[in-house]
Amino acid sequence: MDSPTVLITGCGTGIGHATARAFEEAGWEVYATDPDPEALTDLEEAGCTTAKLDVTSAEDAEAVVEAMLDEHGRIDCLYNNTGYGQLGPVEEVPTDELREQLDVNFLGQHRLVRAVLPHMREQGEGTIVNMASIYGRTVFPGQGAYASSKWAVEALTDTLRVEVDDYGIDVVTIEPGPVETEFGERALETKEDLETTDAYDWFYRMYDEKRYDRRFIDRGIGYVQPERVAEVVVEAAESEDPQRRYVVGPWKALVYLGYVVPDSVRDRVYGLLKRFL
Ligand SMILES: NC(=O)c1ccc[n+]([C@@H]2O[C@H](COP(=O)([O-])OP(=O)(O)OC[C@H]3O[C@@H](n4cnc5c(N)ncnc54)[C@H](OP(=O)(O)O)[C@@H]3O)[C@@H](O)[C@H]2O)c1
Repeated sequence: MDSPTVLITGCGTGIGHATARAFEEAGWEVYATDPDPEALTDLEEAGCTTAKLDVTSAEDAEAVVEAMLDEHGRIDCLYNNTGYGQLGPVEEVPTDELREQLDVNFLGQHRLVRAVLPHMREQGEGTIVNMASIYGRTVFPGQGAYASSKWAVEALTDTLRVEVDDYGIDVVTIEPGPVETEFGERALETKEDLETTDAYDWFYRMYDEKRYDRRFIDRGIGYVQPERVAEVVVEAAESEDPQRRYVVGPWKALVYLGYVVPDSVRDRVYGLLKRFL
């Protein structure tokens, strides 16, 4: 039988890059994509097919899907990996930056889902793996824009799972805690986009790299390497009966705690963090 095929977004660095390698090593035909194809040279050398794909472009998505169909006749897995973190107190995030956050992290996944689904339905099988985060099920001060995009991913993914179940398609969410990638560095850069007021000193203390070394972004307690997340994505794609969601890393406990701790207690803990950090 031919190798199964997977389409992955955002493979230039981090989790997407590690996952393209992991699928390749597991014997899949990998379509590794990124807005910057030059960032994919090593993946091409490793045997992946590479292509330009910016998730804000439906045309890019359709072109890669067409290429996969022409060359292999099927799409077995879509891994919607792409995402970045817009930092900032909610008031200071310009609406245009929030729109861009949702466009890349949330609408981008929807564009890809719409491009692959007609073919997966026709095949009568396939797996869609959508990257969320523990911030798809909890919140943290200074990360409201990012968490909003990931809560939206969770809602869309849970709905989609039920809607396409009749066509033999599995739909899965991945929810890592902190992962050591370029994510934190890029998130810190988004502070430059904020419309600053003098109302949120705690934010500038908590997200001061010199003070806390990205501890509240991707270097927190129990952070994991991108290869660990990659293993879980491949496991989900290869499973006959995948879990609905995979929480990756030791922050699992925090997610479950979120279900039992009342919102009032969570808010009080965050209030104390803001005052004492
Ligand atoms: N790191 C963490 O702590 C963590 C935790 C939980 C979940 N996640 C999620 O994991 C996913 C991957 O993040 P990462 O940690 O691997 O970050 P990363 O190292 O910054 O990688 C992000 C990738 O997305 C690509 N990208 C950016 N804008 C894009 C666009 N418009 N279209 C297509 N690709 C685009 C980037 O490409 P360029 O390099 O060419 O810009 C890069 O290859 C994200 O969805 C993130 O929210 C990360």
